[in-house]
Amino acid sequence: MKRVLSGIQPSGTLHIGNYFGMMKPSVELQENNECFYFIADYHALTTLPDAARLRECVHEVAVDFLACGIDPEKTAFFRQSDVPQVMELSWMLSCLTPIGLLERCHSFKDKVARGITPNHGLFTYPVLMAADILVYGSNQVPVGKDQKQHLEVTRDLAIRFNNQYGEVLVVPEPIIQESVAVVPGLDGQKMSKSYGNTIELFGEGKKVRKTFMKIVTDSTPMEDPKDPDSCNVFALYKLFATEDELAEMRKCYLAGGMGYGHAKQALFEKYSEHFAEMRERRAELLADSARVEQILLDGASRARAAAETVMSRVRKAVGLR
Ligand code: ADP
Ligand code: TRP
Repeated sequence: MKRVLSGIQPSGTLHIGNYFGMMKPSVELQENNECFYFIADYHALTTLPDAARLRECVHEVAVDFLACGIDPEKTAFFRQSDVPQVMELSWMLSCLTPIGLLERCHSFKDKVARGITPNHGLFTYPVLMAADILVYGSNQVPVGKDQKQHLEVTRDLAIRFNNQYGEVLVVPEPIIQESVAVVPGLDGQKMSKSYGNTIELFGEGKKVRKTFMKIVTDSTPMEDPKDPDSCNVFALYKLFATEDELAEMRKCYLAGGMGYGHAKQALFEKYSEHFAEMRERRAELLADSARVEQILLDGASRARAAAETVMSRVRKAVGLR
């Protein structure tokens, strides 16, 4: 059985890009693997210095991820900071990390380019992420395409460690859903909370319907044929529709006579239907925060045991014991 690990930052409301890029594949992988999924609260500290807000976000993301289908019987679901071994490994990896490797990371460069004054934590973010993965001896890591480079850094650090100290760390493989590699946002750029172009995962009522109506389309008149392959609405519809529904929608685009409003409404309906059951589960979890907390604590104790097994080998290998 493979060991699968992934993490998500508790930094804001989850959107359907997060769902299709990371949560859905993570949920599916529970079937035949031993999974470790966590909420990256240490990582969130790099950009969220507000204790109350952080606590709130951790709880929200825990509820949402569970609602999406994390099975706490099968999977260890926990808070990153409940496993202090991750910090210990992070330091050891830091001491093997060339600064240039981190300077090349797109995610860091993008944040700086967007005007964030970078702190040291933001710079070393990928080292902590590598520790998250390596501390559990993970074989596979499902993430969205934007995390690919961080996985390369992780593999690089594991190989450096093993070259220096012997074969102690497992070199992990990323699992990237190529078919939904990047979910487009309302404006056609990558959907991201930092671009303000998201569709909420658990949005409700009129407000979320309005969001769908804001999806940017071209100005082809209603009666003319339209190109499905360059349309954001169609790209999103693909995520929800069956093959037959998709073929039908493609026909409507090519035939003309269908306005974009119609396609948006069809998309909105598929979205509402797709998440209906999860929305119900979410309401139950929201009403029972003690249960959510207990799931996280149980998950953490399983995660600590796995981390300790790896760390006892790591400490010995580097000469600390
Ligand atoms: P955001 O870009 O909104 O800040 P995060 O960086 O917190 O999202 O991403 C959390 C997880 O969701 C990551 O695994 C990431 O790869 C995935 N993800 C985020 N946005 C998308 C997207 N538009 N398409 C596919 N996957 C995504
Ligand atoms: N950096 C990831 C993100 O922004 C979150 C994360 C932290 C992660 N540690 C991880 C993902 C380890 C996978 C494995 O989405």
